[in-house]
Amino acid sequence: MDHLQQSSDLFLPAEGIKGMVMTVFTLPSYPVVFKIIKDRFSSSKYVSREIVKERYALVKHHDRAGRLADTQEFTNLQLPLERFDSDLIEELKQVAAGSVEILAGTLLIKHVWVERRMTPLNIYLQEALRNENEEQLFHGVNEYGKCIKELAAANIFAGDMLFKNFGVTRHGRIVFYDYDEIMYLTDCNFRHIPEPMYPEQELADEPWYSIGPGMCFRKSLIC
Ligand SMILES: Nc1ncnc2c1ncn2[C@@H]1O[C@H](COP(=O)(O)OP(=O)(O)O)[C@@H](O)[C@H]1O
Ligand SMILES: [Mg+2]
Repeated sequence: MDHLQQSSDLFLPAEGIKGMVMTVFTLPSYPVVFKIIKDRFSSSKYVSREIVKERYALVKHHDRAGRLADTQEFTNLQLPLERFDSDLIEELKQVAAGSVEILAGTLLIKHVWVERRMTPLNIYLQEALRNENEEQLFHGVNEYGKCIKELAAANIFAGDMLFKNFGVTRHGRIVFYDYDEIMYLTDCNFRHIPEPMYPEQELADEPWYSIGPGMCFRKSLIC
Protein backbone atom coordinates (compact mmCIF):
# COMPACT_ATOMS: atom_id res chain seq x y z
CA MET A 1 0.00 0.00 0.00
CA ASP A 2 2.98 2.31 0.68
CA HIS A 3 4.30 1.62 -2.78
CA LEU A 4 0.94 2.49 -4.34
CA GLN A 5 1.12 5.90 -2.64
CA GLN A 6 4.50 6.52 -4.23
CA SER A 7 3.82 5.28 -7.77
CA SER A 8 1.31 5.94 -10.52
CA ASP A 9 1.62 3.03 -12.96
CA LEU A 10 -1.20 0.59 -13.72
CA PHE A 11 -1.69 -3.09 -12.87
CA LEU A 12 -1.32 -5.00 -16.17
CA PRO A 13 -1.61 -8.65 -17.26
CA ALA A 14 1.70 -10.51 -16.68
CA GLU A 15 3.96 -11.08 -19.66
CA GLY A 16 4.06 -14.50 -21.29
CA ILE A 17 1.67 -17.30 -22.16
CA LYS A 18 -1.64 -17.03 -20.28
CA GLY A 19 -2.32 -19.70 -17.67
CA MET A 20 -5.03 -22.35 -17.95
CA VAL A 21 -5.61 -22.37 -14.19
CA MET A 22 -4.41 -18.98 -12.97
CA THR A 23 -4.90 -15.44 -14.19
CA VAL A 24 -1.80 -13.42 -13.41
CA PHE A 25 -1.19 -9.67 -13.26
CA THR A 26 1.54 -7.35 -12.10
CA LEU A 27 2.43 -3.74 -11.34
CA PRO A 28 5.48 -2.92 -13.51
CA SER A 29 7.07 -0.72 -10.82
CA TYR A 30 6.82 -3.43 -8.12
CA PRO A 31 8.60 -6.81 -8.40
CA VAL A 32 5.73 -9.21 -7.68
CA VAL A 33 2.91 -10.94 -9.55
CA PHE A 34 -0.65 -11.52 -8.33
CA LYS A 35 -2.15 -14.93 -9.10
CA ILE A 36 -5.89 -15.57 -8.96
CA ILE A 37 -7.49 -18.98 -9.56
CA LYS A 38 -9.71 -18.83 -12.65
CA ASP A 39 -13.41 -19.71 -12.36
CA ARG A 40 -13.08 -22.50 -14.95
CA PHE A 41 -10.09 -24.51 -16.17
CA SER A 42 -9.48 -25.93 -19.64
CA SER A 43 -10.74 -29.51 -20.11
CA SER A 44 -7.20 -30.92 -20.19
CA LYS A 45 -6.80 -29.98 -16.51
CA TYR A 46 -7.81 -32.61 -13.98
CA VAL A 47 -7.72 -30.33 -10.98
CA SER A 48 -10.29 -28.54 -8.88
CA ARG A 49 -9.93 -25.25 -7.02
CA GLU A 50 -9.41 -27.23 -3.79
CA ILE A 51 -6.61 -29.33 -5.32
CA VAL A 52 -4.89 -26.17 -6.60
CA LYS A 53 -5.00 -24.72 -3.08
CA GLU A 54 -3.73 -28.01 -1.58
CA ARG A 55 -0.77 -28.02 -3.98
CA TYR A 56 0.16 -24.43 -3.20
CA ALA A 57 -0.06 -25.34 0.51
CA LEU A 58 2.17 -28.38 -0.11
CA VAL A 59 4.80 -26.11 -1.66
CA LYS A 60 4.48 -23.64 1.21
CA HIS A 61 5.31 -26.34 3.77
CA HIS A 62 7.74 -28.52 1.80
CA ASP A 63 11.47 -28.11 1.25
CA ARG A 64 11.46 -25.73 -1.74
CA ALA A 65 15.12 -26.59 -2.45
CA GLY A 66 15.62 -22.99 -3.65
CA ARG A 67 13.77 -24.03 -6.81
CA LEU A 68 10.11 -23.30 -6.01
CA ALA A 69 8.87 -19.72 -5.70
CA ASP A 70 7.46 -18.84 -2.28
CA THR A 71 3.95 -17.39 -2.22
CA GLN A 72 2.02 -15.19 0.20
CA GLU A 73 -1.67 -15.90 0.33
CA PHE A 74 -4.16 -13.04 0.78
CA THR A 75 -7.91 -13.05 1.20
CA ASN A 76 -10.08 -9.98 0.61
CA LEU A 77 -7.20 -7.89 -0.68
CA GLN A 78 -8.41 -4.43 -1.67
CA LEU A 79 -6.62 -2.47 -4.37
CA PRO A 80 -7.57 0.91 -5.88
CA LEU A 81 -9.66 0.35 -9.01
CA GLU A 82 -8.24 3.41 -10.78
CA ARG A 83 -4.82 1.71 -10.86
CA PHE A 84 -6.11 -1.18 -13.00
CA ASP A 85 -5.72 -1.17 -16.76
CA SER A 86 -9.19 -1.47 -18.36
CA ASP A 87 -8.26 -4.59 -20.39
CA LEU A 88 -7.11 -6.26 -17.16
CA ILE A 89 -10.43 -5.44 -15.46
CA GLU A 90 -12.22 -7.00 -18.44
CA GLU A 91 -10.01 -10.10 -18.25
CA LEU A 92 -10.63 -10.50 -14.51
CA LYS A 93 -14.39 -10.14 -15.01
CA GLN A 94 -14.30 -12.73 -17.77
CA VAL A 95 -12.13 -15.43 -16.23
CA ALA A 96 -12.23 -14.82 -12.46
CA ALA A 97 -15.59 -13.13 -11.78
CA GLY A 98 -16.07 -15.37 -8.73
CA SER A 99 -12.88 -14.07 -7.13
CA VAL A 100 -13.25 -10.33 -7.68
CA GLU A 101 -15.80 -7.72 -6.74
CA ILE A 102 -15.94 -4.04 -7.58
CA LEU A 103 -16.82 -1.87 -4.60
CA ALA A 104 -16.82 1.94 -4.68
CA GLY A 105 -13.39 2.75 -6.16
CA THR A 106 -11.89 -0.54 -4.99
CA LEU A 107 -11.22 -3.93 -6.53
CA LEU A 108 -11.77 -6.56 -3.86
CA ILE A 109 -9.87 -9.79 -4.56
CA LYS A 110 -11.32 -12.61 -2.48
CA HIS A 111 -8.31 -14.89 -2.87
CA VAL A 112 -4.87 -14.24 -4.36
CA TRP A 113 -1.29 -15.45 -4.11
CA VAL A 114 1.51 -12.90 -4.38
CA GLU A 115 4.86 -14.11 -5.65
CA ARG A 116 8.21 -12.68 -6.87
CA ARG A 117 8.13 -11.63 -10.49
CA MET A 118 10.60 -13.41 -12.74
CA THR A 119 11.23 -13.57 -16.49
CA PRO A 120 9.31 -16.58 -17.83
CA LEU A 121 11.89 -19.07 -19.17
CA ASN A 122 10.20 -19.27 -22.61
CA ILE A 123 10.71 -15.50 -23.01
CA TYR A 124 14.29 -15.72 -21.72
CA LEU A 125 15.14 -18.48 -24.22
CA GLN A 126 13.38 -16.72 -27.13
CA GLU A 127 15.39 -13.59 -26.36
CA ALA A 128 18.64 -15.64 -26.29
CA LEU A 129 17.76 -17.15 -29.69
CA ARG A 130 16.86 -13.76 -31.17
CA ASN A 131 20.15 -12.26 -30.01
CA GLU A 132 22.10 -15.42 -30.95
CA ASN A 133 23.37 -15.43 -27.38
CA GLU A 134 24.72 -18.98 -26.96
CA GLU A 135 25.79 -18.36 -23.39
CA GLN A 136 22.30 -17.27 -22.32
CA LEU A 137 20.75 -20.19 -24.20
CA PHE A 138 23.09 -22.71 -22.55
CA HIS A 139 22.55 -21.15 -19.12
CA GLY A 140 18.75 -21.28 -19.50
CA VAL A 141 18.57 -24.91 -20.61
CA ASN A 142 21.27 -26.09 -18.20
CA GLU A 143 19.62 -24.41 -15.20
CA TYR A 144 16.23 -25.78 -16.31
CA GLY A 145 17.64 -29.31 -16.07
CA LYS A 146 19.27 -28.62 -12.72
CA CYS A 147 16.02 -27.19 -11.37
CA ILE A 148 14.09 -30.36 -12.32
CA LYS A 149 16.81 -32.61 -10.84
CA GLU A 150 17.09 -30.69 -7.58
CA LEU A 151 13.32 -30.75 -7.16
CA ALA A 152 13.36 -34.51 -7.74
CA ALA A 153 16.05 -34.82 -5.04
CA ALA A 154 13.57 -33.10 -2.69
CA ASN A 155 10.87 -35.65 -3.76
CA ILE A 156 9.01 -33.10 -5.94
CA PHE A 157 7.90 -33.95 -9.46
CA ALA A 158 7.16 -30.60 -11.12
CA GLY A 159 4.51 -32.05 -13.45
CA ASP A 160 3.92 -29.40 -16.11
CA MET A 161 7.52 -28.88 -17.17
CA LEU A 162 7.03 -26.60 -20.16
CA PHE A 163 9.42 -23.62 -20.29
CA LYS A 164 6.54 -21.20 -19.64
CA ASN A 165 6.19 -22.60 -16.10
CA PHE A 166 9.71 -21.68 -14.96
CA GLY A 167 11.00 -18.21 -14.18
CA VAL A 168 14.48 -16.71 -14.29
CA THR A 169 15.38 -14.54 -11.28
CA ARG A 170 17.43 -11.34 -11.50
CA HIS A 171 20.45 -13.45 -10.56
CA GLY A 172 19.82 -15.94 -13.36
CA ARG A 173 18.50 -18.74 -11.15
CA ILE A 174 15.69 -20.83 -12.57
CA VAL A 175 12.73 -21.47 -10.33
CA PHE A 176 9.48 -23.36 -10.94
CA TYR A 177 6.19 -21.51 -10.29
CA ASP A 178 3.27 -23.51 -11.69
CA TYR A 179 2.07 -25.77 -8.88
CA ASP A 180 -1.24 -27.24 -10.01
CA GLU A 181 0.32 -30.50 -11.26
CA ILE A 182 3.03 -30.82 -8.63
CA MET A 183 3.32 -34.24 -6.92
CA TYR A 184 5.58 -36.17 -4.58
CA LEU A 185 7.91 -38.09 -6.89
CA THR A 186 7.21 -41.24 -4.88
CA ASP A 187 3.44 -40.97 -5.74
CA CYS A 188 3.98 -40.78 -9.52
CA ASN A 189 2.90 -43.51 -11.91
CA PHE A 190 5.20 -43.09 -14.93
CA ARG A 191 3.94 -44.23 -18.37
CA HIS A 192 5.06 -43.97 -21.99
CA ILE A 193 3.53 -41.25 -24.21
CA PRO A 194 1.32 -42.80 -26.93
CA GLU A 195 2.46 -42.15 -30.53
CA PRO A 196 0.88 -38.98 -32.04
CA MET A 197 -1.54 -39.52 -34.94
CA TYR A 198 -0.04 -36.61 -36.92
CA PRO A 199 3.04 -34.41 -36.35
CA GLU A 200 1.11 -31.26 -35.42
CA GLN A 201 -0.21 -33.01 -32.33
CA GLU A 202 3.31 -33.38 -31.05
CA LEU A 203 4.08 -29.71 -31.64
CA ALA A 204 0.93 -28.44 -29.91
CA ASP A 205 1.08 -26.69 -26.52
CA GLU A 206 -1.31 -29.21 -24.98
CA PRO A 207 -1.05 -33.03 -24.78
CA TRP A 208 -3.05 -35.10 -27.30
CA TYR A 209 -3.67 -38.03 -24.95
CA SER A 210 -5.83 -38.29 -21.87
CA ILE A 211 -4.26 -38.30 -18.46
CA GLY A 212 -5.59 -39.96 -15.30
CA PRO A 213 -4.75 -39.07 -11.70
CA GLY A 214 -1.16 -39.77 -10.67
CA MET A 215 -0.10 -40.64 -14.24
CA CYS A 216 3.02 -39.00 -15.60
CA PHE A 217 4.03 -39.63 -19.19
CA ARG A 218 7.43 -39.88 -20.79
CA LYS A 219 8.47 -40.36 -24.40
CA SER A 220 9.64 -43.78 -25.56
CA LEU A 221 13.34 -43.61 -26.34
CA ILE A 222 13.82 -44.36 -30.04
CA CYS A 223 17.63 -44.17 -30.25
N1 LIG B 1 6.34 -15.44 -10.71
C1 LIG B 1 6.05 -15.08 -11.95
N2 LIG B 1 6.76 -14.11 -12.59
C2 LIG B 1 6.46 -13.72 -13.86
N3 LIG B 1 5.45 -14.24 -14.59
C3 LIG B 1 4.70 -15.21 -14.02
C4 LIG B 1 4.95 -15.68 -12.68
N4 LIG B 1 4.05 -16.64 -12.39
C5 LIG B 1 3.27 -16.76 -13.49
N5 LIG B 1 3.65 -15.91 -14.48
C6 LIG B 1 3.03 -15.75 -15.83
O1 LIG B 1 1.68 -16.17 -15.77
C7 LIG B 1 1.46 -17.34 -16.59
C8 LIG B 1 0.50 -18.29 -15.88
O2 LIG B 1 1.02 -18.64 -14.59
P1 LIG B 1 1.11 -20.14 -14.06
O3 LIG B 1 1.54 -20.08 -12.63
O4 LIG B 1 1.98 -20.94 -14.98
O5 LIG B 1 -0.40 -20.57 -14.13
P2 LIG B 1 -1.14 -21.81 -14.85
O6 LIG B 1 -1.12 -22.90 -13.82
O7 LIG B 1 -2.51 -21.34 -15.11
O8 LIG B 1 -0.36 -22.13 -16.10
C9 LIG B 1 2.85 -17.91 -16.84
O9 LIG B 1 2.90 -18.64 -18.05
C10 LIG B 1 3.72 -16.66 -16.85
O10 LIG B 1 3.67 -16.04 -18.14
MG1 LIG C 1 1.56 -22.45 -16.40
